[in-house]
Amino acid sequence: MAIWGHTADGTAVPIYTLSDGEIEVRVTAFGAHLVSVKAPDRAGKMADVALGYDKLDTYLIKPNPYIGAIVGRYGNRIAHGKFTLDGKTYQIPLNDGQNALHGGPKGFDQYVWQSREVPGGVEFTLVSPDGDMGFPGTLTAIVRYTLQGKTLRIDYTATTDKPTVLNLTNHAYFNLHGDDQGDILDQKIEINADRYTPVDATLIPTGELAPVAATPMDFRKPETIGARINDANEQLKRAGGYDFNWVLNGERGTMHQAAIVSDPVSGRTLTVETTEPGIQFYSGNFLDGSFTGRHGVKYTKHKGLCLETQHYPDSPNHPKFPSTELKPGQTMHSTTTFTFGVTK
Ligand code: BGC
Repeated sequence: MAIWGHTADGTAVPIYTLSDGEIEVRVTAFGAHLVSVKAPDRAGKMADVALGYDKLDTYLIKPNPYIGAIVGRYGNRIAHGKFTLDGKTYQIPLNDGQNALHGGPKGFDQYVWQSREVPGGVEFTLVSPDGDMGFPGTLTAIVRYTLQGKTLRIDYTATTDKPTVLNLTNHAYFNLHGDDQGDILDQKIEINADRYTPVDATLIPTGELAPVAATPMDFRKPETIGARINDANEQLKRAGGYDFNWVLNGERGTMHQAAIVSDPVSGRTLTVETTEPGIQFYSGNFLDGSFTGRHGVKYTKHKGLCLETQHYPDSPNHPKFPSTELKPGQTMHSTTTFTFGVTK
């Protein structure tokens, strides 16, 4: 552990380095961000495959495209920032046009979490008070990053003292070429999903679980990300590329394969497994060059891709979607693993 810097109010912010074998990961208590992941290519050459900033100061600038953040209390969108729970309506401040995104304007990405070392990693804890960003109930969220061999594992746990809703995920942007080498359009992705949740013009799910078959959302076999991204498809046009939730095949609550990204150039692969029912594959469409990352690299469109394992967006307003409610006495548990490999 080292102190990486201080927030505006003088709070010291720790940063941790996890290493096992060839993989090295850094995480910070500010927003429980994943700051970097160093992984070898097929020749053993190391590169940082997660976008990130050199200095804490850049993470403090808001709004920020959530580079590596833990997002909460509700990752992804809630339509009009509004939902009803046990007959009472709650309003989350809007920060994405007419919707609330990633928990509203001051989400979990903007707090210094408590931290402690655990075997193989770090555990971060955040207590979000009753009424925080409009959400009911005091929520205690615990995010544990551990590294074993080539696998970075994130365990999420949460409890509440009043019924609430939550959707916690990690918002890392990966680029298997290395964070300073080109964009993600020539990399391939496979997503273990027969269906996805189509969206309206403001990227809120319509409620339909639509087949991916015969659409550019079909990644049941590995496909190059850029191959169909500019197709004349209404959904792709709305999002400016991929920015949808796929309905994962596999039993919810048990570990199942979500996605595999592979880079034909470096040979690096990234395999994502999760207990979550969905994954948001976001191709970095809204990165506009206004943030500069490590090595002085401007984060422009498609510079990195996000694989946000999650419950479906706007679930509190879709009773047919898997529930995001948490009640007092219950514990929410969820696990996602990212495995960094190579192919010949
Ligand atoms: C969303 C994008 C949004 C991005 C913010 C992603 O999770 O799906 O629409 O622009 O977060 O960085």
